[in-house]
Amino acid sequence: MKPSKNITWVKLADSIEQIPFNENGLAEIEVKGKKICLANHHNNLMACTSKCPHAGGALSQGYLDALGNIVCPIHRYKFNMLTGRNVSGEGYYLKIFSIEIREDAVFIGLEENKMFNWLK
Ligand code: FES
Repeated sequence: MKPSKNITWVKLADSIEQIPFNENGLAEIEVKGKKICLANHHNNLMACTSKCPHAGGALSQGYLDALGNIVCPIHRYKFNMLTGRNVSGEGYYLKIFSIEIREDAVFIGLEENKMFNWLK
């Protein structure tokens, strides 16, 4: 039996409008001292680590393609922000996070064990 994931929900903002997205619908924020990239694709909010798993490109400086995949600004590898899959086929995996938009605020879900190891 797999252990269940222990998710901690951290408030990001009171609403989507408060998140400082750039003209490409991307923003870099800090949560628990670490940087995370947020993407707003037609009001669908997605989140991933801020650095590209290939060579550390700043994903918030990239852009979203028509399908909502994030494209790294350095070598243009593409990642599905719902699965983390490297859809341009280079075999990398992007760490993604759950986002919940509740009535009163926007939250990000951090997996406690894995996440807090990653945050160190
Ligand atoms: S650093 Fe992102 S694709 Fe190379």
